[in-house]
Amino acid sequence: MRKDVTTSMLETDISNIWGSIEFSDLMKMEPRLSKAHETLAEGTGEGNDFLGWHHLPSRTTEAELDAIQKAANQIRRDSKALVVIGIGGSYLGARAAIEFMNGVMHNETDPVKIYFAGNHLSTRALNALVDRLENIDFSINIVSKSGSTMETAVAARMFRWLLNRKYGPEKAKQRIYVTTDPMKGKLRALAKEEGYMTFPIPSNVGGRYSVFTACGLLPMAVAGIDIRSVMAGARRAETELDVRSMDNPAWLYAAARNLMYENGKKIEMLCSYEPDFEYVGRWWQQLFGESEGKDGKGIFPASVDLTPDLHSMGQFIQDGARIMFETVINVEESPEEVVLKEEEIDTDGMNYLAGKNVDFVNKSAMNGTILAHTDGQVPNLKVNVPEQNEFYLGELFYFFEFACGISGYLLGVNPFNQPGVESYKRNMFALLGKPGYEKEREELMKRL
Ligand code: PA5
Repeated sequence: MRKDVTTSMLETDISNIWGSIEFSDLMKMEPRLSKAHETLAEGTGEGNDFLGWHHLPSRTTEAELDAIQKAANQIRRDSKALVVIGIGGSYLGARAAIEFMNGVMHNETDPVKIYFAGNHLSTRALNALVDRLENIDFSINIVSKSGSTMETAVAARMFRWLLNRKYGPEKAKQRIYVTTDPMKGKLRALAKEEGYMTFPIPSNVGGRYSVFTACGLLPMAVAGIDIRSVMAGARRAETELDVRSMDNPAWLYAAARNLMYENGKKIEMLCSYEPDFEYVGRWWQQLFGESEGKDGKGIFPASVDLTPDLHSMGQFIQDGARIMFETVINVEESPEEVVLKEEEIDTDGMNYLAGKNVDFVNKSAMNGTILAHTDGQVPNLKVNVPEQNEFYLGELFYFFEFACGISGYLLGVNPFNQPGVESYKRNMFALLGKPGYEKEREELMKRL
């Protein structure tokens, strides 16, 4: 159901940061926040050629959404599976959305299975997927802003070849959808040459900020997610987060995390108590990690799944080096209800929970953990999400994108580039013998 735009907004709860941060310090952040907001909104800072994401929700047209939905409907008609081939920002948002909405077991229930490839270079994993697709009708969506990412290009070749073998070159073309830069890159050239259907990632939108382009929206629509509701949530966030005051939840989040960082908390854990949020965590990790980790600065983003990770990381979080704070994504209302039943003989000693919801147990675990961590000098921020639906998913994605832009400017870095990612690529290309990398290859070979 599409949500009414007057429903409650997600909020940042800072009630568990006191002791680690003084109220007066938080208030002193106001001029810095105002400046960071202005820099972002006026486009006067570093990276201002990559601010296209800022107004994507309000500027994406109905015609653009129609085109995405039409392609998704076609895929749903002629395919039992879609392989999304991309890495980093070119798949994490789509995967996060699909698992958030349809659950981690979506491929066991949804009529069109969504597989992800091009996000690794594992022969075994590639072969396993090829085997899986042998006897089912499938389409592929190759997603790469640059059009030259190795992991994606390798998998794209394999699956294009598989489609050609299965359907013949002409029919295969109708099953290949390309999402890339509108003007440049090898993938754009290939799509033009072969006549594949294409969708643009606008030139001024960076990979990790591209979830509201076809990059995120096409796989979401194939998975049956209502992309208009996702965009409605994002649109509301675009409006509400434009408020220039401490009432702005993105300001509060950006301010609190930067103050923690300045007070020696160098690691932020994003915690959720819902397994379906694992990839929201991974998407967030890339967003903040690539945006802020540069020039020798940055909060290290680590996403953890609770309660499972309390049984592996819990000891360290509670008692190890005091270098971290946590941000909990809290869904206020569980969409499902499981009530524990009473047993005649209480052998497992669980009857005291009879009649209680599992969600009540989960929330009690969360609240108990927050208090224990706060006592153990792990300050806590909470992002309250009213419900697990498309609207709030859109709002959540936009909230983090906007907060990340503000936070990066507060930190004094360019939040929209990723120069460090290029280093491994240069070495890899040189070692693989890519033309143009001969000199680097010579140097590297001496060191191996
Ligand atoms: O944020 C970014 O731009 C990167 O992390 C990219 O998302 C990632 O490297 C994939 O790049 P591309 O879409 O060009 O294949």
